[in-house]
Amino acid sequence: MNHTNRSKQSYLIPNYGEAPFDIIKGQGSYVWDHLGERYLDFASGIAVNTLGHCNPEFVSRVSSQMNDLIHCSNLFGIQKQRDLAEKLVHYIAPGKMLFCNSGAEANEALLKLARLHGAKRIGKEGQNFHVICAENAFHGRTFGGMSATPQEKVQNGFAPLLEGFSFAKLNDIGSFRSKITEQTAAIMVETIQGEGGIHPCSTEFLRELRALCDEHQILLILDEVQCGIGRTGNFLAYQKAEIVPDAIGLAKGLGGGYPIGAIWVKEEFSNLFQPGSHGTTFGGSPLASAAALAVLDIMEEQNLLSQVQELSARWLPRLHDLKAEYDFIEDIRGEGLMVGIVCKQNPANFIQQLRNSKLITVPAGGNVIRLLPPLNVTQEQLDWALSTMKQTLSNLQK
Ligand SMILES: Cc1ncc(COP(=O)(O)O)c(C=O)c1O
Repeated sequence: MNHTNRSKQSYLIPNYGEAPFDIIKGQGSYVWDHLGERYLDFASGIAVNTLGHCNPEFVSRVSSQMNDLIHCSNLFGIQKQRDLAEKLVHYIAPGKMLFCNSGAEANEALLKLARLHGAKRIGKEGQNFHVICAENAFHGRTFGGMSATPQEKVQNGFAPLLEGFSFAKLNDIGSFRSKITEQTAAIMVETIQGEGGIHPCSTEFLRELRALCDEHQILLILDEVQCGIGRTGNFLAYQKAEIVPDAIGLAKGLGGGYPIGAIWVKEEFSNLFQPGSHGTTFGGSPLASAAALAVLDIMEEQNLLSQVQELSARWLPRLHDLKAEYDFIEDIRGEGLMVGIVCKQNPANFIQQLRNSKLITVPAGGNVIRLLPPLNVTQEQLDWALSTMKQTLSNLQK
């Protein structure tokens, strides 16, 4: 498996900076680098590898689909896509699905939905199209996504962005209320902000948002691209609040590593898109749909939602204890297996030291380290990660 002759010369646009090493193999919660070193992977491709790496049943189902049909256009019927839509609607609430390839594309479709809704509400387009998002949000790198992402590091260099976006304080309903105008068509928030540093919407806030949107007949759109698909122990993170939003964006964990995105739209708004309104070459292809169906079936067979609830109920309190034990830690935030360790200073060195100890984590905004293990992580692996973090923190504080 080793290939130590990792080429230095690169024809890649230097968009991602320098990588510390190549990952060349994965199995379960572990990956191996180009030197053959094994790491416990608590990045999961940034909340993508729901079942860990190369889950044998997942591989077998995807391989079998590859032998039948990989791609055909959405101009033709795709049974697996219909099956996937049915399953997702069953998990969410009465409504309909539209598939795409990524989180940014899902959000782009949701922003188009908001415009269609606004135009229908007042009977003409171009006036009722504003969207209120949250401060510190991250919704992707397309022009729509960037416009909804009020972060200098994301927007810098790309002006002019789309008009009509305003930003309010997460978990502050008064702040959202104050931004509503005649022109507002939708409110869009991540149920748990991921890139921004793991900031969950409270249950109360989600309920208040639902009531506010009802009052003003505007869409409540939830971006569950990172926090959805079982990561919090509910199928979708908002379900803790027992509300029903009007539309939801999904991607990342849905395909377990195979690219697929989706939007769910409540029945009432599901005919806003008509033939020709939107489209995609690859979205919901036979292979992508088979991969996502396999993820959902395996999650069900292995009872992964309950497992996430049980594992995190034991793990989260122990992570919270780190705050009292180590000066370096300011706070612990998150739900289920989506955890942010808030550090008092830039955590780059901490992340590097953890990597040296063979634990992979992901940075996020606001001095946060994200822990995003696969949903089928074991108790032993969580224990090992915790003791590795403790050891590393003790060394850092020496
Ligand atoms: C909440 C959220 N929305 C949208 C996106 C964009 O998804 P993608 O990178 O698949 O375009 C991300 C990616 O990190 C995300 O975390």
